[in-house]
Amino acid sequence: MSSKIKAEVHHADCLIVLQNMNYESIDLVYLDPPFFTQKSHRLVSRDRKKIFSFDDIWVSEEDYSGFLFQRLKAIHRVLSRDGSIFFHCAPNANHLARALLDEVFGPEMFRSEIIWYYRRWSNSRRRLLPAHQTIYYYTKSDEFTFNLAWQEYSPSTNIDQILQQRARDTFGKSIYKRDELGNIEPNGDKHGVPLSDVWDIPYLNPKAKERTGYPTQKPLHLLERIICLSSNEGDTVVDPFCGSGTTLLAANLLGRNAIGIDVSEDAVELTRQRLKNPIRSKSTLLVKGRDSYRNADETLLSMLLGVKYVPVQRNSGIDAFLKEGIDETPVPIRVQREDETILEAAHKLHKASRRKGAKLMLLVAISEGGYFQFDDDLPEGVVIIDSPRLSIEKILRDSGD
Ligand SMILES: C[S@@+](CC[C@H](N)C(=O)[O-])C[C@H]1O[C@@H](n2cnc3c(N)ncnc32)[C@H](O)[C@@H]1O
Repeated sequence: MSSKIKAEVHHADCLIVLQNMNYESIDLVYLDPPFFTQKSHRLVSRDRKKIFSFDDIWVSEEDYSGFLFQRLKAIHRVLSRDGSIFFHCAPNANHLARALLDEVFGPEMFRSEIIWYYRRWSNSRRRLLPAHQTIYYYTKSDEFTFNLAWQEYSPSTNIDQILQQRARDTFGKSIYKRDELGNIEPNGDKHGVPLSDVWDIPYLNPKAKERTGYPTQKPLHLLERIICLSSNEGDTVVDPFCGSGTTLLAANLLGRNAIGIDVSEDAVELTRQRLKNPIRSKSTLLVKGRDSYRNADETLLSMLLGVKYVPVQRNSGIDAFLKEGIDETPVPIRVQREDETILEAAHKLHKASRRKGAKLMLLVAISEGGYFQFDDDLPEGVVIIDSPRLSIEKILRDSGD
């Protein structure tokens, strides 16, 4: 972090601090205010020594809207001509936030509705599982800082679309562009496709290193993306509801000055600590892509073709489960790897299945390895099935005898 880069944290109502800032002095504002959940949010700190909390309880919708309106007006005043605002909301208040932003910034200054999408594993019986949050992106004027970002092509993208320039024919139809000799015109350096408004960024999992225990803490990756998109090094970023200080930390790590405000003393203290000791989780998903989790090798699973199973990712012992268990207990499956004996595979399967309450475990054998001699050592409940390859090898061998 450069010593010229600053961070200020204020313990106050953000309205007061914003009103005292210079006119058009701020380049980017991200706000993640209380969401009109009518709840008190409480969570225990990482070291379990403290309970962090903030109230999100309002007399009425008007009361909440009035609170936001005043603060949005104050943000509009301090935002520079080329500045942007990102407003993070939750479903209860999306409609209110959008209307207020239109009123303060003008509907023509609306740039995007960003959907932050993540996967969560929880039961939701009477409604669809919530798996996204919305961020409204507005700018102060039409001249705004915007650093175009790129994302990878989807696996189904046609290679021609990547490599060849496009043009419109006389009917307005999209065609591949050709030079005067009729040759296809190449598309130059390829970055990917421009970043879309749906962002697949993992939710902070309970064991994430950067998790502080502050309720509704957002991932650094999310803030880093916003900051890179709409500000430059040396710019000043403000978070008027900074909570655990995620925005300030992301801004400083990216060479931007940061100002954070929060009414909670605990939040201010936590933000200061995080700035002194920045901790950032690495996300395999973001570095390597979602496909990196698919370690249940497709070729292995192809041996189960025709069987009704659910593939298992990120488990070193189990490749899949049968869709239907036995007596309400799951039936895990493992396919033996080339570099392991049947007994090794059986133990891995058994170990991984034990805590899942499985009584029957199926191991698909790909090599003979004389496993009958291991019958006594075979962990209880593991049943070995020959793969088609092994069955064919046995038939060939037996008919050659
Ligand atoms: C949803 S949390 C922000 C979480 C934050 N984005 C993070 O990553 O940790 C909202 C925060 O707004 C604070 N807050 C509520 N009213 C405020 C006000 N008038 N001025 C400043 N902060 C306020 C709460 O104390 C709480 O920390």
